[in-house]
Amino acid sequence: MFSFSLCSAALALVPLSYALSSQDQTPLHEVDHSPFTSDFDKSVVRLMNNWHVPGLAIAIVNGNETYSKGYGISLYPYFEIDPSTLFYTGSTTKAFTSAALTLLMEESSNSSDPLTWRTPISSIIRDDFVLPDVYATAHVTLEDAASHRTGMPRHDSSYGGLNYSLRDVVRNLRHLPITAELRVRFQYCNLMYMTLAHVIEVLTGSWFGDVLWDRIWKPLHMIRTYSSFSQAQLAVHNGAAQLSAGHVWNNQSQKYIPVEWMKIPFDSGAGNVISNVLDYAKWLRFLMNQAPPLSKAGHMTLRHPRTILDDNHFPGFTGISAYALGWNVENYRGEPLISHDGGVPGFAAKIGYLPNRNYGIAMMGNTLGSSIIVQTILFHQLLDNYLDVPVKDRGDIGALLENTIIKPKVQQLRDPIKALYPDAPTGKAAIPLSLPLQNYTGTYYNDGYYDITITLVAQPDQQQPQRPHLRSVVDRTWPYTFDFIHVSGEYFIAKGQMSSSDAEVDPTDPFEVQIAKAEFRLGEDGAIAAFGVAVEPEMKGEKIWFRRVKDAA
Ligand SMILES: *[C@@H]1O[C@H](CO)[C@@H](O)[C@H](O)[C@H]1NC(C)=O
Ligand SMILES: *[C@@H]1O[C@H](CO)[C@@H](O)[C@H](O)[C@H]1NC(C)=O
Ligand SMILES: *[C@@H]1O[C@H](CO)[C@@H](O)[C@H](O)[C@H]1NC(C)=O
Ligand SMILES: *[C@@H]1O[C@H](CO)[C@@H](O)[C@H](O)[C@H]1NC(C)=O
Ligand SMILES: *[C@@H]1O[C@H](CO)[C@@H](O)[C@H](O)[C@H]1NC(C)=O
Repeated sequence: MFSFSLCSAALALVPLSYALSSQDQTPLHEVDHSPFTSDFDKSVVRLMNNWHVPGLAIAIVNGNETYSKGYGISLYPYFEIDPSTLFYTGSTTKAFTSAALTLLMEESSNSSDPLTWRTPISSIIRDDFVLPDVYATAHVTLEDAASHRTGMPRHDSSYGGLNYSLRDVVRNLRHLPITAELRVRFQYCNLMYMTLAHVIEVLTGSWFGDVLWDRIWKPLHMIRTYSSFSQAQLAVHNGAAQLSAGHVWNNQSQKYIPVEWMKIPFDSGAGNVISNVLDYAKWLRFLMNQAPPLSKAGHMTLRHPRTILDDNHFPGFTGISAYALGWNVENYRGEPLISHDGGVPGFAAKIGYLPNRNYGIAMMGNTLGSSIIVQTILFHQLLDNYLDVPVKDRGDIGALLENTIIKPKVQQLRDPIKALYPDAPTGKAAIPLSLPLQNYTGTYYNDGYYDITITLVAQPDQQQPQRPHLRSVVDRTWPYTFDFIHVSGEYFIAKGQMSSSDAEVDPTDPFEVQIAKAEFRLGEDGAIAAFGVAVEPEMKGEKIWFRRVKDAA
């Protein structure tokens, strides 16, 4: 699950006429070859309006040329997006983490105890790195962590909060259930990339952000790339950069709501970078040219497939899709394609390149779910334009996403009880709660997920208008507000949304709202003793259990 909190002011609907603002940086002598044709521009504007993305920046590297363009607004009333506008780039951070580790490996290659991708993590941070499984603790290597095959699933609702450090994240792994054997299965895990950032800090004695700056961003002249909000904020303050606001679209009020910037980089190494598409074009060029300071062998290591992914059923993909070290490696229309997506509250990014063609694309948008969709559609459009794929062979990715992801999710959110509890007695047949609602409030504790406080709120709720209901505000890296909908007996639905105010998020927003089964348990004394929630999808419906430690204040 993912999450965040909101600013108060609501954005008005972006007028269509502002949606195409740009600063074209097409090289003068190459105007004819710009991929930003008027047809492409129209398609961008149409997609942004249909899917509700206020702003988007794109850079394209084709051989020695870089093209870039900004579309739409970064912050209401309308600061225009241009290619230098900064965005949070989410999980595209992971490729920097693995590149930094590869550089450290190359530096240590002549030492008596060289660092390699086969080095067990516990040999570097023995006290901090403990998994619930003894074998995995001893054997998980840097490579396993970077290719998401350690057995540890996401547990994205577990980390963050006040005073929580990167080391705390790592030390908490011992309390989180693993859901596969080591090296058996791909399970995307942000926690393992945070672990790698901690490893980098221990090995270098420097802050992770300084390591990226010294070893990658500075040599590549990526001078507008940051690994903390405060650094980016300083650049904004000095007039050196503009940072886009993040947004969420409320379909009921037909307005954009600004999303608070993630301020504290608990997700160092996994998703904390802030940058612009011009810097990402330099990064693409470095990767495609296999340029120094990384050796060619180091570059090949980064894109070497490790963990097999589910088949990619999007049009154009053939053969096996795999995860390398911070990169997806796939076959697209007969060409190797190396890419990665990223998303944090209010933002999404996509980067990818065709290594055999020296063609690469970087995109950054200022919403989360809808930007991922628009970027995916445009990414394929650009690749297909470049590869001269006939229109009839392209497929309709927008319709595919709409039918396979959006529609089923909206359906589920419209009738969550039917979706999660098809067999439960409902309406008059529902079994009443054992105790008054007030008795379910209090603070609950789990070793891995620590404190969760459940309170009674009287705000109107879509399902049960005006009736008080249980709520929990989980203020973590992914801040979520959970509202509890009673189903039957001690069974509930936890409806989570990435905001603190349900007045502002559309309750059927397929990107912002998640639902999970929740349950309370009575103790021998007849009081509520525990609360469980099926918050980690890889646990296949099994719940994380919290024991009750305190009554409500
Ligand atoms: C690209 O740049 C390199 C290095 O400056 C040069 O050797 C090469 O000829 C250029 N390629 C094209 C297609 O212009
Ligand atoms: C390691 O040793 C080789 C061979 O002597 C040398 O070429 C290389 O530069 C050395 N690498 C480092 C990082 O010192
Ligand atoms: C966070 O740290 C500050 C300063 O050390 C301390 O005063 C505060 O109580 C801590 N907060 C929590 C929730 O631990
Ligand atoms: C969004 O709102 C429009 C206008 O009210 C409506 O036609 C459309 O079905 C809504 N979309 C979703 C996904 O709820
Ligand atoms: C329910 O809450 C009331 C009021 O706090 C308390 O007096 C009562 O003992 C509670 N009942 C149980 C079974 O915990």
